[in-house]
Amino acid sequence: MAVTRSLRLVERDASGVDLAFRADVLAGLAEPQKAIPARWFYDDIGSALFEDITRLPEYYPTRAETEILADRPGEIAALIGEGRAVVEFGSGSSVKTPLLLSAIRPSAYVPLDIAGDFLRASAAALAEKFPGLPVWPVEADFMRRVELPAEVADLPKLGFFPGSTIGNMIARTATDLLRSMRATLGEGALLLIGMDLVKEEDVLLAAYDDEQGVTARFNLNLAERVNRELGGDIPVDKLRHEARWNDTFARIEMHLVAAEDFAFTVSGRSFAMRAGESIHTENSHKFTKRSAQLLLAAGGWEPRARWTDLGRQFSLVLAEAARPRSAP
Ligand code: AVI
Repeated sequence: MAVTRSLRLVERDASGVDLAFRADVLAGLAEPQKAIPARWFYDDIGSALFEDITRLPEYYPTRAETEILADRPGEIAALIGEGRAVVEFGSGSSVKTPLLLSAIRPSAYVPLDIAGDFLRASAAALAEKFPGLPVWPVEADFMRRVELPAEVADLPKLGFFPGSTIGNMIARTATDLLRSMRATLGEGALLLIGMDLVKEEDVLLAAYDDEQGVTARFNLNLAERVNRELGGDIPVDKLRHEARWNDTFARIEMHLVAAEDFAFTVSGRSFAMRAGESIHTENSHKFTKRSAQLLLAAGGWEPRARWTDLGRQFSLVLAEAARPRSAP
């Protein structure tokens, strides 16, 4: 029978406020270009909205990555081997995780996620689908090294980071995360990572500004979350969602743009926005084969294999923890 247990590692104050969330929001709103890191999208409402995004006709990444996993299970399994503990960075509520787990016969599954309720629900659903597979959910911020459950300490690891979430980080943060993953997973680990590809601008803009307005709701929920959890009074009805292509950095940016001048408070601190000013809420970097390889190398991972979907929209890369060595 599957064993399910959860460890709570998120720091909160006496009133239940997530201290890292508050610190990030207050620091980001005080910057000349206001910004809130994209990882704070994923409270329970944001996580559910993101699931809706993955089913939108315009949002190709989930379908393309699922196609790769569904079409190449033999090839992927042959390179990974059986018996690894799969450590997923983010909780696998989609069809991708079952596809991977079915292909490679792992010895345990450890989903790591900051959204605790969502994590527990998706971990329980997976445990039901894979009776006999030990499931150890860990509620944690995986941007830092995470202490894995003792039960998987001696097992060989496969990190799984699908969805091109790595693209949501600027290069320095992505490098830090890849290094943290390496520290979490240890020597001899493999990493299977989704990396979205550079493509036509209109395809990218549509994927991040869909006709039904789901991505807009996802973006606006971040401001609503600030109001809900940090005692804010941001006039959300005066903000509108905008997706922009930044060619210099090969990334889609999401912004919340003020429709008029207004003032607001968050956790007792005062802020103001002018009409047209924005809160930058997300970067979604797109990669080429080379830029993906460079980023992985900077984070301590050596690419071993790479797959794309038939439409060449998305890539899945298998990398191995690089051994420390002195090199020029
Ligand atoms: C989770 N992440 C990879 C998504 C992306 O495509 O950057 C988040 C997202 N933002 C808007 N739509 C989807």
